[in-house]
Amino acid sequence: MIASPVASNPVPSDAPAVRCARLTKRFDKQTAVAGISLEVRVGECLGLLGPNGAGKTTTVEMLEGLYRPDGGTIELFGQSWSQGHDQRLRERLGVGLQDTQLADKLTVLEVLRLFRSFYRGGRTVDELVALVGLKDERNKRYHLLSGGQKQRLALACALVGAPDLLFLDEPTTGLDPRARKNVWSVVEQFRARGGTVLLTTHYMEEAAALCDKIAVMDQGRIIAEGTPRGLVDGLGMVQFVEFETPCELDQATLEQAASVTCFERRGDRYRLCLDRSLAALRRLLAELERQQVTPIGLSTHQATLDDVFLTLTGRALHSDLPDRTGQLQQAPVEAMRR
Ligand SMILES: Nc1ncnc2c1ncn2[C@@H]1O[C@H](COP(=O)(O)OP(=O)(O)O)[C@@H](O)[C@H]1O
Ligand SMILES: [Mg+2]
Repeated sequence: MIASPVASNPVPSDAPAVRCARLTKRFDKQTAVAGISLEVRVGECLGLLGPNGAGKTTTVEMLEGLYRPDGGTIELFGQSWSQGHDQRLRERLGVGLQDTQLADKLTVLEVLRLFRSFYRGGRTVDELVALVGLKDERNKRYHLLSGGQKQRLALACALVGAPDLLFLDEPTTGLDPRARKNVWSVVEQFRARGGTVLLTTHYMEEAAALCDKIAVMDQGRIIAEGTPRGLVDGLGMVQFVEFETPCELDQATLEQAASVTCFERRGDRYRLCLDRSLAALRRLLAELERQQVTPIGLSTHQATLDDVFLTLTGRALHSDLPDRTGQLQQAPVEAMRR
């Protein structure tokens, strides 16, 4: 008797869009992914946030079925790769690679017709150019498009099969703020129709704007996970004050008099963390005055995801920002660690 497809391949309807556990991948002697577990529910957007080399691309390419993991398990909509239904699974996925290279001489329409021909079902080419805002560029050759337009075309290629789950690897790296927002709007429209997204980024604003949940990744591991708000609030009700001065600050007195809870210094540049209140700021300014320090370029900001990363790792998300050199408050960090 031939078993029915449903009986031989039961797929739980409430299965998450993505579930992986203890995922690992090594290249030669280097561990790129060191035991990652993630879950993305249907309709959610998860952001993998981390600096270059964190292991984001390797992780998503394993999830997409492009790389075979060395260890761990992957399930997409309750199904694993290499169990006889890869083709069907692939038809539910849209993939935007970190670097999409398309043929220079093809026009926007020609690229989309080509990609559309790979799928049995999906969107029409006209729908796609409208969706990604490339109507006016439809007959332009690929090499004549701007960076933002190329990226939107890559997004259209990922959406051509009307996927349920979209993987986007650094969809806006190198784009200007306006081009970035155009890409965000396409992702938001996809989500508004019930789509699930897993994206990687090293822009904290992108993760905060698009994602319901963020997994912060560093050196092949997830070092914190939560909602953008929850991660930031995990640092406590704090504000950061930054300024420059050639003067030597008396750290102990500042910590005591102005309730400074973390103190970092790189050359003449200081970054202090204190209670999120005007009173705390007033006390800090008074103490600086008492120490006869004139701060240059003083600015304050409430905690951001960059501060979360800096606090967890001692390094900035973007390597052009200063390294931590001082002592950091440990208690909230421990609370955020998985
Ligand atoms: N094909 C590969 N061969 C060898 N090493 C690789 C390969 N792909 C990635 N790596 C290494 O694995 C680590 C993680 O890379 P990657 O996943 O690309 O990080 P991210 O996307 O976060 O920048 C890096 O140190 C990178 O050099
Ligand atoms: Mg990458």
